[in-house]
Amino acid sequence: MFAKQILLPALAAWSVSAANICSETTITLNSAADAAALASCSTIAGSIVLSSTVSGVVSIDGPQQIKGDIVCEDAGQLTSLGSSSIGTIGGTFRLTNLTLLSTLSMSDLTSVKALEWTALPALSQLTFPSVLSKANAVLITNTFLSTLDGINLQTVGTLNINNNNRLKTFSTQVANITQLVDISSNGQNLDVSFPNLIWAANATFRNVSSIKLPSLATVNGSLGFYGTNSESIIAPNLTTVGDITKSASVGGSLALVANSALSNISFPVLKSVAGAVQVANNTALSAISFPALETVNGAIDFAGNFSTPELPEIKDVKGGFNVQSTVKIDCSNFESMKNKIIQGTFTCKTTADAKSGVGSSTGTSSSDSPTSSKKSDAGSFGVSEAVAGFSVLGGLLQMLL
Ligand SMILES: *[C@@H]1O[C@H](CO)[C@@H](O)[C@H](O)[C@H]1NC(C)=O
Ligand SMILES: *[C@@H]1O[C@H](CO)[C@@H](O)[C@H](O)[C@H]1NC(C)=O
Ligand SMILES: *[C@@H]1O[C@H](CO)[C@@H](O)[C@H](O)[C@H]1NC(C)=O
Ligand SMILES: *[C@@H]1O[C@H](CO)[C@@H](O)[C@H](O)[C@H]1NC(C)=O
Ligand SMILES: *[C@@H]1O[C@H](CO)[C@@H](O)[C@H](O)[C@H]1NC(C)=O
Ligand SMILES: *[C@@H]1O[C@H](CO)[C@@H](O)[C@H](O)[C@H]1NC(C)=O
Ligand SMILES: *[C@@H]1O[C@H](CO)[C@@H](O)[C@H](O)[C@H]1NC(C)=O
Ligand SMILES: *[C@@H]1O[C@H](CO)[C@@H](O)[C@H](O)[C@H]1NC(C)=O
Ligand SMILES: *[C@@H]1O[C@H](CO)[C@@H](O)[C@H](O)[C@H]1NC(C)=O
Repeated sequence: MFAKQILLPALAAWSVSAANICSETTITLNSAADAAALASCSTIAGSIVLSSTVSGVVSIDGPQQIKGDIVCEDAGQLTSLGSSSIGTIGGTFRLTNLTLLSTLSMSDLTSVKALEWTALPALSQLTFPSVLSKANAVLITNTFLSTLDGINLQTVGTLNINNNNRLKTFSTQVANITQLVDISSNGQNLDVSFPNLIWAANATFRNVSSIKLPSLATVNGSLGFYGTNSESIIAPNLTTVGDITKSASVGGSLALVANSALSNISFPVLKSVAGAVQVANNTALSAISFPALETVNGAIDFAGNFSTPELPEIKDVKGGFNVQSTVKIDCSNFESMKNKIIQGTFTCKTTADAKSGVGSSTGTSSSDSPTSSKKSDAGSFGVSEAVAGFSVLGGLLQMLL
């Protein structure tokens, strides 16, 4: 890709045309030397595209603000990219398929609109001493990064960090994630911490080794923990998941699925969930308690090896109720809630073959668990509808369809 929107001036003519360069829509750099032409621009009005022919060390020094994008794709010989002056990128900072890039050094960068880094197999760390704190959207995928030190966001809309197999820690001060956070498949040794996160729209954590959410109070959409090897999942301040005023279909579910080391879940103040609450395939989890949970617009679905679940405050379950444990549980209390507090299909049993999602309209209901005649708006089981809007959150809840 050799976009040649402009011809770079020869060095002799440089001072004459420098002013023009600064206001070009797209500046294409074909070599490290081309970057020198930008030295006298304080603001670049357009975008900078580094062509796939750039190689070695490229430093874009001089400009403080880039109003457009900085893009570099497929430059297989680029080893180092940096800037000692750029503080703000008004558009997207996109780096894609840079096989040898091992140094990314932006000493003044604090703000970008979108950051998109994909396939950077040699990049192991960032040199961002000023710390990037503002970004609407962040996508970091398939890099060799073992740390994201240098990125500490105050605000972000979408945060998507996946397939960075060496990543060991990620901590960010962000208080609100206004659209989505998805941290998935970054190897098995990633400790994630959001010390100040108060609310997030949707949140998915997959394959992390620990997750700290001490301040999280509200998840407007869905919250899911899948395939982690965390021993505990604790959300001490979380009160609501999803918008309880909406139907389960647009609500937002809570899922804890296939967390093999999980032995302690703690959601001490969780009061309402607009979609389903699913706890399944957590083989080490021997107790389930939601001490403050009152309202679930979707289904309650617990399957595993646990003692009688504790739901002391439960007042309204609009979807189904499926509780199956390989350990002896006492269903009598839940039986008495059938058709009253629990409106959907009811299953509660001790069985060697504890299955989640049983009782859905397409599933076979077992003979010892008669179906309720009183169906809720959310459907006989409530989970499928609850989940329909959240396919992006991945997968396992879909098993309930
Ligand atoms: C990545 O860049 C290399 C050049 O360094 C190119 O040969 C290869 O096709 C690119 N891969 C993809 C998936 O675009
Ligand atoms: C986070 O969201 C809350 C509630 O919407 C708002 O009051 C607060 O100002 C936001 N904080 C930041 C840092 O955006
Ligand atoms: C938890 O919520 C309470 C009440 O809203 C608040 O005072 C406290 O600071 C929160 N804790 C954390 C760690 O954010
Ligand atoms: C999410 O919930 C917070 C806290 O209740 C609220 O301030 C914010 O506006 C909600 N965001 C969306 C996108 O609904
Ligand atoms: C959560 O994600 C789903 C699916 O992408 C989307 O439809 C929904 O609007 C999101 N919720 C919020 C509160 O942003
Ligand atoms: C990652 O999580 C998924 C569930 O979302 C699980 O199927 C997969 O086995 C996990 N990967 C590892 C390596 O544990
Ligand atoms: C689970 O974690 C909570 C919160 O840290 C703690 O209070 C509780 O004692 C733990 N329970 C077990 C069984 O470890
Ligand atoms: C639980 O594990 C079983 C067996 O591996 C699998 O068939 C089932 O789909 C899983 N259920 C969920 C909800 O992940
Ligand atoms: C119950 O525990 C055993 C071993 O402790 C495990 O193999 C099995 O998958 C667990 N079953 C469920 C449904 O979690």
